[in-house]
Formats: sequence, structure tokens, C-alpha cells
Amino acid sequence: VEPDVVTDVLIVGSGPAGASAALALSTYGVPNIVVTRYASLADTPRAHITNQRTMEVLRDLGVEQEVVAKATPQHLMGNTTFCTSLAGEELGRVRSWGNDPLVQGAHELASPTRMCDMPQHLMEPVLMDAAVARGTRLRFSTVYKSFVQDADGVTVTVEDRLRGDEYTIRAKYLIGADGGRSQVAEDAGLPMGGQMGVAGSINIVFDADLSKYTAHRPSTLYWVLAPGATVGGIGAGLVRCVRPWNEWLIVWGYDVTAGAPDLTTEYAESVVRGLVGDDEIPVTIKSSSAWTVNEMYAETYSNGRVFCAGDATHRHPPSNGLGSNTSIQDAYNLAWKLRLVLDGTASPKLLDSYTAERAPIGKQIVTRANKSIGETAPVFEALDGLSPQTPEQLWANIAARKEDTQAAEKQRARLREAIAFKVYEFNAHGVDLNQRYASAAIVPDGTPDPGFDRDPELYHQPTSRPGAKLPHAWITSGTRTLSTLDTVGQGRFTLITGIGGGDWARAAAAQDPEIATVVIGPGQEYEDPYGDWARLSEVSDGGALLVRPDGYVAFRHATAAASPEDAERLLTGAVRRILGHA
Ligand code: FDA
Repeated sequence: VEPDVVTDVLIVGSGPAGASAALALSTYGVPNIVVTRYASLADTPRAHITNQRTMEVLRDLGVEQEVVAKATPQHLMGNTTFCTSLAGEELGRVRSWGNDPLVQGAHELASPTRMCDMPQHLMEPVLMDAAVARGTRLRFSTVYKSFVQDADGVTVTVEDRLRGDEYTIRAKYLIGADGGRSQVAEDAGLPMGGQMGVAGSINIVFDADLSKYTAHRPSTLYWVLAPGATVGGIGAGLVRCVRPWNEWLIVWGYDVTAGAPDLTTEYAESVVRGLVGDDEIPVTIKSSSAWTVNEMYAETYSNGRVFCAGDATHRHPPSNGLGSNTSIQDAYNLAWKLRLVLDGTASPKLLDSYTAERAPIGKQIVTRANKSIGETAPVFEALDGLSPQTPEQLWANIAARKEDTQAAEKQRARLREAIAFKVYEFNAHGVDLNQRYASAAIVPDGTPDPGFDRDPELYHQPTSRPGAKLPHAWITSGTRTLSTLDTVGQGRFTLITGIGGGDWARAAAAQDPEIATVVIGPGQEYEDPYGDWARLSEVSDGGALLVRPDGYVAFRHATAAASPEDAERLLTGAVRRILGHA
């Protein structure tokens, strides 16, 4: 039977994973269609923390400035506050999301981009609008039903919810970006580790002007330690800023074994009143929904011509703000590989590197996000707040920290330590930026893995070792200042070398696919006036780095090639291996 519609890549889902896959593929000129179940993009805020790596991806895809313009800026994100309610007692704060002066310095050194708070209902239109403008065909109210694949492609049956009928789309590749209940991942039989439904949670979105309690300690997150706050949920009650300071989202737990409460407006208002602690402030409930905390990750991200990305492959709580970030990064890893396989430049073997590179990251972030929930318990413990007790007892325990006794001083110290330890959730710069890949699309240079000098979750450590993201350094070109990251990407491979690297540059010019060449040094197209690149590059002037379209170093040679032939042999060998031809 002839399919009704034909395309190169069919994407199921228009969330962060699907929309960014569409955006990257359309940017690279790959024909693609997105089908999505509902009649609109996300209509609630959902994921919001947007880390530097994601902003780098968006910078390469040309939408960074639009996101910056719409997002809450970094300096308003970072006074993560622990309190008994917004109007109640404050127990302490953590400077978060790069707002600690030392971490801020690390953020500025690590990337040309800044973290920001971009709620999902604002992010999805930016990604999808740009994708559609560049060629993506988007079908709302269209539900994925099933697929059949053969040696040449995938035939997908979808249901048009407007017409009520089904039709088929034939694609060379299918991307399942259909979220935490992915039917595509299930139909593809992707093996999963971990478990779903670990705890119950409720999101309540509401309007209320809370400036009185927040503007003086601006933050994306206010954590409430109140009676009931350790039941289910994500460690404590959470009042999250959607738009400063009049649109909010509360996360409140429920006992998953008892089932979700009836989400009436009265119930939502009572939760809001409890966490805000001020009955005088007018509140308008906009929506309530129940969800579960999951701890699940796919061990394999693909089956034949079917690839999954985003929550389809990693399901975890919002702690550390990794959901949308990891989803966008998955799509960015996959898109350039599909493009090179589709245009015949690379062997389909290149696609195997998608699981090899992203599955370990998925597992790591699922583990991190769930661990972060557990790390809130010591804050309660410091207040003797974990054992079953009446609200009066909890308030008395909390009040006890104000006494002039040795026991109270100890309690104050424990509380400070417990709150400070939450940097692993709120300032984990290494979790955001230290993703390293090992796969057939990375050519090891024989150097031993030096590991990390400091805690790899907290501190970013740049390196140009193959498998790492290209280090960021500010360089110049004439009067223009730009990041080394701005010289790579745009769907191309890039060779970076310096004075004395002429053999590498000539070898690069002879390759297929086309490799852009960047020469950094005095009198060259790019200069290194601060000496930052010389400090970070870990190669001599005559050495070379080959950077993939996703900004990852795939090949490194520390010194000048022994001869032009040597450069040609080494670089050709590396490119063939990366593309899966060797
Ligand atoms: P996502 O779930 O965003 O998108 C899935 C897409 O697939 C949707 O477009 C859907 O319509 C479509 N789809 C599904 N099945 C389909 C089918 N059969 N046919 C066609 N289309 C189909 N994270 C966080 O950090 N903080 C938070 O507060 C929240 N809150 C939150 C609330 C709610 C209600 C949800 C659902 C999720 C969150 N999250 C969150 C999680 C966060 O939203 C999530 O990590 C990312 O959206 C994952 O992006 P994906 O693109 O992978 O899936």
C-alpha cells in the first residue's frame, strides 16, 4: 500500500525534545514532519531552568537571543529560600544557579551564554516557530498509533483527531519524542531500567502578586517546610516563580499508594494558602494536575530506524532542572548524525553513537535528580521534623533553633550545613557542563583520562580531550570578540589549529564532508589577545582539534603533523572512523 505522506524524518511530539529535533533538522535542511497529540504546544509552564549547555545549543541554532528576551534572567533566579511559608519564618538560603560570586565566575569562564529561567510554555513556541520557519511541517491534533519498519524506512500510522480518520506517513527515520509515557519507546521495545511512580506530586499554577515576599530575595524556587511537606513530592513543598512576581507554580506531594486527591479549586486554594501563608493576597487558580516522581531510563535509545529522545528515554523529577535541558541536548546530538547519514556522507553506523553517548548521560541525570530529593531530608532532620508528629510539635522544633542553648547552636549549625549541601541541586555546574562522550564517533588520542580535579558534579572542568565539549575562550577577529564555540557548529565539522598547523589545514580542505578551518594566532583570521585559548587548548600551536557539528572534540593531535602526508593520513583516518566508514 502506498503511504499517504512521505518525508525523511518523522518526529512524534512537539515538546522540548521534538521541537528542538525539528529545529536542528530544518536548520540542516533535512525534510521533517512533526505530529503532536494536542491542539497546541505546552499550555502550562512545566520545565524552566535552562542551563548554559542548552543555551549554547540554542545559540548555535540561532534562537539564543529570543530566549534571553523572554526568559527570567539569571540574577533573579538565585536566592533559593527555605521557609515555613512565604509569609512565615525564613530558615536559610542557598545562592543558586550561578549566583554565588565564585560560581558566577565559573559560569562566565565556562561559556559565552548565561543560564536563565525559560518556562516550557514560552520555550516551545520559540523552538517550534523557528523550526516551521525553516521548513518543518507541523500537524497538531495528530496522534501516533503504530509503526512498522523495514530495511529502507518506517511506515507510521497516525490518527487525525479533527477528521477522526487514520493515515500513514512513510519516513526514513522516526524520532519518538513523545514524553514520559512514550508509546514509540514501548513499541520499539526499548529496554528500561529503574521504576515509575516512586512518589506522587501535584502541580498547581496560579496568579498572585507575591512581590511582598519575594522581590527582596529574588528566586526561582522557595521551599516550604510545613506539616505534610515530606509526604510524597520532591522533598518539600515548592513555590516556583513562573513570571516575577505574579505567576506561580506550586509542587505539593501526595501519598502515591493512596492515589491523587480530588483536584478541586478549593483543594488547590487550600494548598496555596498553606504555602503562601497570607490569606489576604488574592489568588487565581489556573490549573492543577497530578504527576508521579519517576526514576527510569532507557538502556538503548534506538531500534533500527526508530530513535527516542527526551522524557521518552529518561524520566525523573524536576530537581536540578534537567528535563528540558537533557531533552534538547539529546535532539542536538542526534540531528547532525541523521543529516549526515541521510545525505550519504556517513554510514548508518554513526547512529549507533547516539545511544553510546546519550544513554549514560540519561542514567546519570535520572540518578542525580532523584538523589537531590533525598538530600532535602537533612534540612528537616536538622529541625527534628522527620518523625511523625503534630504540626504544633514541628513548629516548636523549628522555634527551638532560636534558643540560647548549646543544643540550639548545634541545631543552627546542622541546619546551615543541610541547606548549604543543597548546592548539589541548585549549583551543580559540573552536572550541567561535564558531559563527556565515549563512542565510535570519538577518536581517542591515547592520553589517559585525567579524571576531575574537583567534585565533577559541582565544578566544570574544560578539556579539549576527545569526547569533551570544545572549551570556551574569548577570541577576536578584527574588532569582533567571539567565543571559540562561535567558530564551530552550524552543522559542520571544524578543524581548529594555529601557526604551524598548515598541514592540518590542507588535509582538512581535502576532506568530504567539507570541514571549516579556524586558525588562531597573531596575524591570523582569529587572534587570542587574552591568551585564554593558549591556556585552555591543551595542544601546541601546530596541533589540531577536529570538532563535530555538536561542538564536541572528536579528534586531537597535540603537535604539528610529522609531514603533510601524515596529517592527511591521520585526519582522513579520523574522519572515516567518526563517520562509521572505518
Ligand atoms: P514532553 O512531555 O514535553 O513532550 C511530549 C510530546 O509528545 C508532547 O508534545 C505530546 O503532545 C506528544 N505526544 C505524546 N504522545 C503522543 C502521541 N501518541 N502522538 C502524538 N504526540 C504525542 N519539569 C521540570 O523541570 N519542572 C516542572 O515543574 C515540570 N512540570 C511538569 C508538568 C507536567 C504536566 C509535565 C507533563 C511535565 C513536567 N516537567 C517538569 C517535565 C518536563 O516537562 C519534561 O522533562 C520535558 O518536557 C521533556 O520534554 P520532551 O520533549 O521529552 O517531552
